[in-house]
Amino acid sequence: MLSSADPKPQRVLSGIQPTGEPHLGNLLGAIRYWVEDQTLGDCYYCVVDLHGLTVPGDPAERRQGSLTMATLLLAAGLDPDTCTLFLQSQVPAHSQLAWVMECTASFGELARMTQFKDKTAKGGEQAARVGLFTYPCLMAADILAYDADRVPVGEDQRQHLELTRDLAQRFNATYGTTFVVPQAAIPRPGRGARIMNLADPTRKMSKTTDLPAGVVGLFDEPADIERKVKRAVTDTDSGPGSVRYDRESKPGVSNLLELLGTLRGEDPDRVAEGYSRYGDLKADVARAVLDAVEPIQRRFKELSAERDYVADVLATGARRANDVASATLQRAYRAVGL
Ligand code: TYM
Repeated sequence: MLSSADPKPQRVLSGIQPTGEPHLGNLLGAIRYWVEDQTLGDCYYCVVDLHGLTVPGDPAERRQGSLTMATLLLAAGLDPDTCTLFLQSQVPAHSQLAWVMECTASFGELARMTQFKDKTAKGGEQAARVGLFTYPCLMAADILAYDADRVPVGEDQRQHLELTRDLAQRFNATYGTTFVVPQAAIPRPGRGARIMNLADPTRKMSKTTDLPAGVVGLFDEPADIERKVKRAVTDTDSGPGSVRYDRESKPGVSNLLELLGTLRGEDPDRVAEGYSRYGDLKADVARAVLDAVEPIQRRFKELSAERDYVADVLATGARRANDVASATLQRAYRAVGL
């Protein structure tokens, strides 16, 4: 979280993929921090529709998915008068700078990215799209194009942020200072950095999952949300001391404590002190999640009827983003001798 005592407003950039249904992990690990930061920093947020091309998809669904995601971000509290919201593909400098990043990164560096390894584990590397491999270069371009000081993301993006920093430093050392070296702003442990799947708390809650019973979608019906929370896997032990925060030996209960703590603004071990039974904890988690999600769903419904408004927000956002990103691109082109 930024502080109003910061001397100069920090430049903030973050992005979210439009593919798949957004879930509670996205909200608690990222989107809510974007909303908090917007009044304190100079914030740019993008729906990374180009990144969505790394996996197959229907064009009409793709287009709709990007608009849905932008609408959701507005419904969650982004204010287009306060921050800049745009679609990545409407700002050509992202793709142009990505090429410069591809010519800065090494093959070995990209081959070490755990997300690439995870995402190709099933289908194999040979069949994977090259874009999935070079994805972190586009992500680095997204960030560096805005001279971002700070990038609010969940824990799963840490390695990509480290690579972005390495690329910025390498480029600056080779061609002279051109890019701001960004900092990852990851929620501190226990505050939403890595929300786990409720049905298998050893796995991250994810848009692409084969365990939907443990993923709380932000568009889920309230009754489904309640059911998913109440069926969350906990542990077999019960009785005094069984509700405690211990991610190693009690991953399910710890995930629920973290959910509730994040929503209440309390540390999870503190939250645990109020409970002796899993059932009571689950009931309170369900209530707190619904209290967070229902207003977003209501606002989403209203905004979905105002398609022109959302289109206008994105057009204005793209203009503002283009001004900033194209200037950085020119700086980088000049630095390398283009
Ligand atoms: P994406 O679309 O997978 O996720 C969007 C944001 O949600 C966070 N997140 C989570 N946080 C906590 N618990 C979880 N289970 C969870 N799942 C997802 C992610 O960390 C992310 O912050 N590569 C990025 C998109 C991107 C980007 C960027 C981000 C492209 N360019 C530039 C920042 C800056 C991604 O796939 O996020």
